Amino acid sequence: MERLQKVIAHAGVASRRKAEQLILEGKVTVNGQVIKELGTKVTNNDRIEVEGVPVNREAPVYFLMYKPKKVISSAKDDKGRRTVVDFFDHIDKRIYPIGRLDYDTSGLLLLTNDGDFSNKLMHPRYGIEKTYIAKVKGIPEREKLKQLERGVRLEDGKTAPARIKIQSIDKKKQTCIIEMVIREGKNRQVRRMLDFIGHPIMKLKRERYAFLTLQGLKPGEIRELSPHEVKQIRALAEHGRNAF
Ligand code: URA
Repeated sequence: MERLQKVIAHAGVASRRKAEQLILEGKVTVNGQVIKELGTKVTNNDRIEVEGVPVNREAPVYFLMYKPKKVISSAKDDKGRRTVVDFFDHIDKRIYPIGRLDYDTSGLLLLTNDGDFSNKLMHPRYGIEKTYIAKVKGIPEREKLKQLERGVRLEDGKTAPARIKIQSIDKKKQTCIIEMVIREGKNRQVRRMLDFIGHPIMKLKRERYAFLTLQGLKPGEIRELSPHEVKQIRALAEHGRNAF
């Protein structure tokens, strides 16, 4: 037995809060009856519909993928380019990515069919740490990196504090490799932050998502998260704020 709003959220139809709203508005039926009680419990055999559309209750699955470059992180692409979901053709579930990596960014991407899990992880309040490795043009001065660590004003607001380290410098080619840890996920955030200080990115990879890494995977490979990993990530999203 599970609470109705949880089942709707898990199915990816809406966030938990939105699901509650839908129930209160009388838009949800269970076995053909309108249900407006938030605490209502349902079983696997109950037929749930939201605004007349059946809620698909497939078992939740969680994957970690090493996204290669030149792949779109959405379920469909109107230009016909390869998408991350194409890598899951053999899995008969409606899987979608949690957040995005740019077409030219490689690295760690989580995918699931669990809408509730996905909403939690993407909510800025939960601030899961993500580690990026960037190859940039030029060699930034310390003060510029400090500026990024404190936060810079981009067109959609100020960035939250970040942690930055220079990993290596190529003086001859005038490039360097930077490690950046951020807790937000604004669109093209890392690229825009480095553009802001005048050191555009030549190459970008997400190496870590909370405690998860790409260890053992090559670009294009996927693995299922263990139940323990799912539990830990969920707990981090619910309670953990590892402030800098
Ligand atoms: N920041 C970016 O700029 N690009 C990504 O793909 C991820 C984070």
